[in-house]
Amino acid sequence: MVRVLICYASYSGNTEETAKMIQTRLDMEGFETEMYRIGKAPIPDPSMFHAVVLGSFTWGKGSTPGIVKDFVYELGWKPPNVYVFGTGDTQFGGDELFCKAADKLAKFYRSPLDPLKIEQSPRGSQENNVNNWTEGVIKHCLNFYKKQRF
Ligand SMILES: Cc1cc2nc3c(=O)[nH]c(=O)nc-3n(C[C@H](O)[C@H](O)[C@H](O)COP(=O)(O)O)c2cc1C
Repeated sequence: MVRVLICYASYSGNTEETAKMIQTRLDMEGFETEMYRIGKAPIPDPSMFHAVVLGSFTWGKGSTPGIVKDFVYELGWKPPNVYVFGTGDTQFGGDELFCKAADKLAKFYRSPLDPLKIEQSPRGSQENNVNNWTEGVIKHCLNFYKKQRF
């Protein structure tokens, strides 16, 4: 069974809600998921999972929140399959700074997929974006899983 660790940071709930939607879709596929809210201890061991889904909001002027930077530092290594999603708000600097933290994290982890970017709440029309992106994650995970056995 494909095991996926979903890690997310959220202050006002948008990123958490997106994480839950992704989890629901992965669970429907029969994947085994574990949810981890960044900032809590202890951090689960990503090597026990086939993939990591990592979600972050973006903070002042396109920056990655401090708790997410701490998480990356504490992890101390780059798991192979990290899929990144983010929530943001174009009011804080237009397209250039929109979900910039997700872009940075995806680049840092050399993510095999482009990051999912959600404008504030994932509800309504953006639900399709979440589901389509999660389909991509499922496909990629299944291919990886077929090649790996542990
Ligand atoms: C002080 C502040 C700065 C922000 N800066 C950005 C930004 O540079 N880029 C962006 O896309 N969103 C920015 N946002 C919007 C948040 O990332 C967005 O509201 C996000 O959905 C919050 O996630 P959460 O509900 O999971 O905490 C900013 C919000 C605040 C309050």
